[in-house]
Amino acid sequence: MPSHFMPQNILITGASGDIGAALSLTYAAPGTTLMLTGRNAQRLQQVSQQATARGAEVISNCMDIADSGAVREWVTTMDRQHTVDLVIANAGITSHIREHATGEDWQTIERLLQTNLLGALATIHPLIDAMRQRRRGQIALVSSLSAWYGLPLTPSYCASKAALKAYGEALHGWLAPQGVAVSVILPGFVRSAMSERFPGPKPFMIEPAQAAARIRRGLERGQPRISFPFPLNLGMWCLGVLPAGLSSRILRWLDYGG
Ligand SMILES: NC(=O)c1ccc[n+]([C@@H]2O[C@H](COP(=O)([O-])OP(=O)(O)OC[C@H]3O[C@@H](n4cnc5c(N)ncnc54)[C@H](OP(=O)(O)O)[C@@H]3O)[C@@H](O)[C@H]2O)c1
Repeated sequence: MPSHFMPQNILITGASGDIGAALSLTYAAPGTTLMLTGRNAQRLQQVSQQATARGAEVISNCMDIADSGAVREWVTTMDRQHTVDLVIANAGITSHIREHATGEDWQTIERLLQTNLLGALATIHPLIDAMRQRRRGQIALVSSLSAWYGLPLTPSYCASKAALKAYGEALHGWLAPQGVAVSVILPGFVRSAMSERFPGPKPFMIEPAQAAARIRRGLERGQPRISFPFPLNLGMWCLGVLPAGLSSRILRWLDYGG
């Protein structure tokens, strides 16, 4: 296994959330430095303490991922001080059309894209050139199975995740020959504060620790796409290749319509 798939210095955004916390604890071990960020100071501190108890060195910083200037500065400083081996851009929010009588309002759409899309890109962008120069490093973008086909319930969320998928695939093609691995992560339903808010059916739901283990395994193998669980991945992929009119009818029939 190439050594850059056994990272020691790992930067994770959204570490105060359910999947981010599980990822942080999966990697927490003696000899590992974790650079963790989120907004909820109390939860971030809890995760940091648990990771420290497992032997990791932890640096944590509360910040708004939508503040791309602050994010870029922090990531650059972290890389200068600790040489990031693996970055996982995981922070994200969701919204759905049933929250407002008239669908998603503009503020919601803008905030969601700033967080899910620009926040993720601001996280990884400062590392791209540094990793290219070192000819090693690993970049992971947490997208979603909803990137395969837009769900009527969550239009801007699906748009943000489809954009991350496309961006990550493009980066993979560009950077893999230069020694930098890029993975796009497409989880199905994972029990979390976010999935709690989703108003449609949630088949094949898994726990955050299971998702974190699956993600880590995929990253250690250097998989460009880490998608799970298999049945939902197949179903969402099929929606993307079927005629769009038929896919929309299937989604309405399964109660994912508007
Ligand atoms: N759960 C699922 O079923 C599922 C499925 C597919 C993909 N995903 C993706 O997995 C990732 C993690 O989601 P999750 O399920 O673990 O949800 P979660 O428990 O709600 O965690 C979301 C994380 O993102 C952070 N975050 C949100 N907005 C932020 C902002 N403006 N600035 C800084 N941090 C911000 C949150 O920080 P605070 O809590 O501190 O505000 C939290 O740490 C997301 O990208 C999500 O889209 C989740």
